[in-house]
Amino acid sequence: MKKRELLYEGKAKKIYKTDDENIFIAEFKDDLTAFDAQKRSQAQGKGALNCQISAHLFKLLENHGIKTHFVECISDHEMVIKKADMIMIEIVVRNIATGSLTKRLGIPDGTVLPFALVEFYYKNDELHDPLINDEHALILELVDHESELEELKRLGREINVVLKSFFDKANLNLVDFKVEFGKDSEGNIILADEISPDSCRFWDKTSGEKLDKDLFRHDLGDVKVAYEEVLNRIQKVMS
Ligand code: C5P
Repeated sequence: MKKRELLYEGKAKKIYKTDDENIFIAEFKDDLTAFDAQKRSQAQGKGALNCQISAHLFKLLENHGIKTHFVECISDHEMVIKKADMIMIEIVVRNIATGSLTKRLGIPDGTVLPFALVEFYYKNDELHDPLINDEHALILELVDHESELEELKRLGREINVVLKSFFDKANLNLVDFKVEFGKDSEGNIILADEISPDSCRFWDKTSGEKLDKDLFRHDLGDVKVAYEEVLNRIQKVMS
């Protein structure tokens, strides 16, 4: 698979065209950004770790019947993916209250939620990705039909069930995560983007230690060491 011209550069990935119009290559970058990209840094090797972690998790989800854009990895930081027309909604699923939920609603940090909370955020940098409800999503025409919102919620919950029980075996609490979906050439909703410690929160079940991007957000420790630990634990559970 040959990399052709750069199609898009985001905060954490570059997307390249290939000779096949339905196939792209995602290159995972070492850049770290937080708080609407106001805080920036780099961690050498972070992109490769996220690429490998995402690949494992996409394969795991595919094995549980969840369609994803993942095709294969062609190097430690490059992933062949199916083209998807992105749905401009970030789906956040939360098991434990922290981050913006704690700030917005005053729920004490670390509170185990009585059920998995699914939230929609409008993917829009200028507006700083605001929290939206179903009606906002319909008015903004972010989906073609109301039923697609139900499908996004169902997929978010299903992904949560699979990942939560998987990470439990790795002695990690899956605190919350963000996923993005797109439509493939046949109109199917497929999981896209990435699933990595940049987009999830993981807390060690024994020590409570954070093993995710909060280390960078709040200057709590070495991101690369933590992401390596997450990858090692994933590989151990899978072997
Ligand atoms: O900041 P907040 O508490 O809303 O984040 C919830 C989850 O979504 C976290 O795991 C965070 O890493 C992820 N997230 C993300 N990209 C964003 C916003 C949140 O990956 N733009």
